[in-house]
Amino acid sequence: MSISPRNPAVAVVGATGAVGIEILRCLEQRNFPVGDIRLLASARSAGRTLPFAGREVAIETLTEDSFKGIDVALFSAGASISRRYAPIAVEAGAVVVDNSSAFRMEPQVPLVVPEVNGETTGKHAGIIANPNCVAAIMVMALAPLHRARPIRRVHAATYQSASGAGAAAMEELRQATAAYLADRPFEHKVLPHPYAFNLFSHNAAIDEETGYNGEELKAMAETRRILGTPDLPISITCIRVPVLRAHSIALTIEFDQPLAPEEARALLAKAPGVALVDDRSANHFPMPSEASGRDDVLVGRIRRDIGDPSGRSIALFVSGDQLLKGAALNAVQIAEQLFPR
Ligand code: A2P
Repeated sequence: MSISPRNPAVAVVGATGAVGIEILRCLEQRNFPVGDIRLLASARSAGRTLPFAGREVAIETLTEDSFKGIDVALFSAGASISRRYAPIAVEAGAVVVDNSSAFRMEPQVPLVVPEVNGETTGKHAGIIANPNCVAAIMVMALAPLHRARPIRRVHAATYQSASGAGAAAMEELRQATAAYLADRPFEHKVLPHPYAFNLFSHNAAIDEETGYNGEELKAMAETRRILGTPDLPISITCIRVPVLRAHSIALTIEFDQPLAPEEARALLAKAPGVALVDDRSANHFPMPSEASGRDDVLVGRIRRDIGDPSGRSIALFVSGDQLLKGAALNAVQIAEQLFPR
């Protein structure tokens, strides 16, 4: 294997998308030592430019020749694009950090949240997977607790924002809301149901056998994989809510042994990438409006689950920026592990 260059050439596949734009911001804000940058998208975007590090960079059409000279390719253009082009990028000598679901459950592909299982990044064979946004945000709260007391069971309900369905869904939420307020009819095209002042079961297809949808199945399987607990019982209900870019999750966690809420609070307060928002007197807890644009995952409403008289369960509430910890930030953190300074 070649020695990592100090200033890697970076390709961003899907640079014009909701996650791609945030990847560029994260690279810039975190001073990732970019040697050269190549912005790739569909032919629809070719000829446009995007700002990066004080200059305008031309967007190129993604082709099989896009990866010559590239050291690290950050993919965020959907699973079918990743399936087709990630192996081509690896063949050309790049390491791929893939934000899609294409390779997440393949045993030779590490599925990484750096704060949780960052030690697995180095075991890649060319591709590293960035988790589903619910899994990435949820494990930030679960892992610090699991290290102290093994988790025995998890129940979760999500409140997922538009950004998880891409830039077009965010725009649909804006337009649907404006139309609703102006009492104008609005025809939804991106999401399957009216979105303004409404919420609905996540738009991923339902598995007939289990009744769970694809988002729930992904989030459950990936959470187990990241935590290294292949048999952990988890049940999630994923709901799409009219919020632009941060996901929230209500969690009920059962442990092997009792865990006092005060201890859970202390563990989460010192966990990297987590910020406690847990002010009972002010009734101030994690909110998507405060999580949006923040790197940290907000955790609060930490309390004993009085539905479990054994004292082994706690309940809490989490909000994390879907575009940052749920996608772009996590991908850039993985790239930082690959090219340490
Ligand atoms: P484009 O803007 O040219 O369509 P989002 O998840 O926000 O919808 O973004 C999807 C990203 O994937 C966009 O950057 C989009 O580029 C890119 N994309 C979609 N289809 C292709 C394709 N066939 N080849 C390359 N990039 C694609």
